[in-house]
Amino acid sequence: MNPIGVFDSGIGGVSVLRAMRVEMPQADLIYVGDNIHLPYGEKSMEEIRTYTRGVVKFLIESGCNVIVIACNTASAAALKQMRDEFPHITFVGMEPAVKPAAEQTQTGVVGVIATTATFQGELFASVVERFANNVKVLRQPCPGLVQQIEAGELATDKTKSMLHQWLDPMKEQNIDRLVLGCTHYPFVAETIRGILGDGVQIIDPAPAIARQVKRVSDYENLKSGRAGEVQFYTSGNPNQFGNVLTQLTGWSEVIQQLHWNNNVLTR
Ligand code: DGL
Repeated sequence: MNPIGVFDSGIGGVSVLRAMRVEMPQADLIYVGDNIHLPYGEKSMEEIRTYTRGVVKFLIESGCNVIVIACNTASAAALKQMRDEFPHITFVGMEPAVKPAAEQTQTGVVGVIATTATFQGELFASVVERFANNVKVLRQPCPGLVQQIEAGELATDKTKSMLHQWLDPMKEQNIDRLVLGCTHYPFVAETIRGILGDGVQIIDPAPAIARQVKRVSDYENLKSGRAGEVQFYTSGNPNQFGNVLTQLTGWSEVIQQLHWNNNVLTR
């Protein structure tokens, strides 16, 4: 089986990759974090599309025919275009898990946190329109939170005070479900739980995405009998990426450097 590509603006997509390693332990995976351009969430749709296209081409050249856009922002900006431009590739993208939240809520009020760009995309509007007509959906962009997570500041005073500022008003409005609409945010789920308490269920889509990737790939036919290999690449600083990866997951991995040249990503 070909390796499966997994891509994010930084370390966030590792929340999805981690679930994939549990769900499909024999699959070979290639992870790309485009850290040099992070945060995507505060860039224009056009810029995000250009970067996504560059990473997708790199993953295709590396042998991937299934690519997981493990970034809500890049999915919002570019998933449709990538499917049109590369019809022979199977793409799995992220969309905020508004559907389960709307189905499960008892209070009728659900919260969604995501990047500014994700809320601006058509994908988010269509998800709310399709699945959450009868519930109140509170949307809260969290500018700066991605950078806190990339810096390994998962529960520092600054991160907590940022989260309080965004989550306290949602709590006051009686949410009982909070959708993590950015793949970085599961890494601060514990800090969020400390603020919202046990009455609010936090929804991380990673396990569901991992099951979807398994379904759309050839995984069921793979009988290699060996553990899958994971290659990690970043366009940013490999040492910093490796250190944060260890802090977030306990893994210690070799991180390889990528370079951008006229919108082309190379080793
Ligand atoms: N992990 C990305 C997401 O899911 C973060 C985007 C960013 O770099 O701002 O949206």
